[in-house]
Amino acid sequence: MRITLFDIQAMKRDDKRIAMLTAYDTPSAALAERAGIPILLVGDSLGMTVQGHDTTLPVTLDDMIRHAGAVVRGTGRAMIVADLPFLTYATESDAIHSARRMMQEAGVQALKLEGGASLAPIVRRLTELGVPVMGHLGLTPQAQHTLGLRVQARQAAAARRLMDDALALQDAGAFAIVLELVPAPLAATLAQRLQIPVIGIGAGAGCDGQVQVWHDILGLLPGKSPRHAKRFAEIGTAIEAALRDYAAEVESGAFPTAAQSAGMDPAELAHALNTE
Ligand code: KIV
Repeated sequence: MRITLFDIQAMKRDDKRIAMLTAYDTPSAALAERAGIPILLVGDSLGMTVQGHDTTLPVTLDDMIRHAGAVVRGTGRAMIVADLPFLTYATESDAIHSARRMMQEAGVQALKLEGGASLAPIVRRLTELGVPVMGHLGLTPQAQHTLGLRVQARQAAAARRLMDDALALQDAGAFAIVLELVPAPLAATLAQRLQIPVIGIGAGAGCDGQVQVWHDILGLLPGKSPRHAKRFAEIGTAIEAALRDYAAEVESGAFPTAAQSAGMDPAELAHALNTE
């Protein structure tokens, strides 16, 4: 049985912090599930982490369905949430079309949509139709050309708007909200005021849970991870060292050995050569 939105909401009621992590393929999803992470997000951050783009904007619905399907196939217990990508839910009919494809073709359990009060009617309609929706407020990367990539809602008016947006999403039926790059005291206040879980990224320790990007916390990419991420490992360095060893052993002839090769009865080989 997979974890449901009711389990996630019970975690908030029981004061248990919720860990959420992005996953984009079958093996990483399986590892994250084995590590006990209850929610995996197939984020459109895959535009940057996997596809090499600068933003999430080029990611298509087909891209999301392909990666989300791989994550679903790698797991049996985690709740799989997928982003609807840029401009695939701008109208109610687009949202229903995109949601149908994500749920039917990829098999995810919930969708994440970026936007505030103006998105509430679409959240309400999807929820009525049986689609669990996670909201996403604060820095919403699909709007990075209008918002910039910086901490949001630092001033009173913007903070008030953010709180109104969060309440509108909760009223519309969103089962949880991601808050990205929002001042910690504001995020903590929202987590206290909302009945639904608030899952932060760069929003401080007062949220009901945290979400992070796979590559950032595992140190997969060279250089620094974003300020809001902690590198729990240096997997990129470990991979690079292993690949250097591999290349060196191929070049020196140390790999492969008999242990990695199949033998053959010399008589069979001789026979084969004679018949040529
Ligand atoms: O796409 C993504 O990975 C996200 C997280 C950063 C929350 O939306």
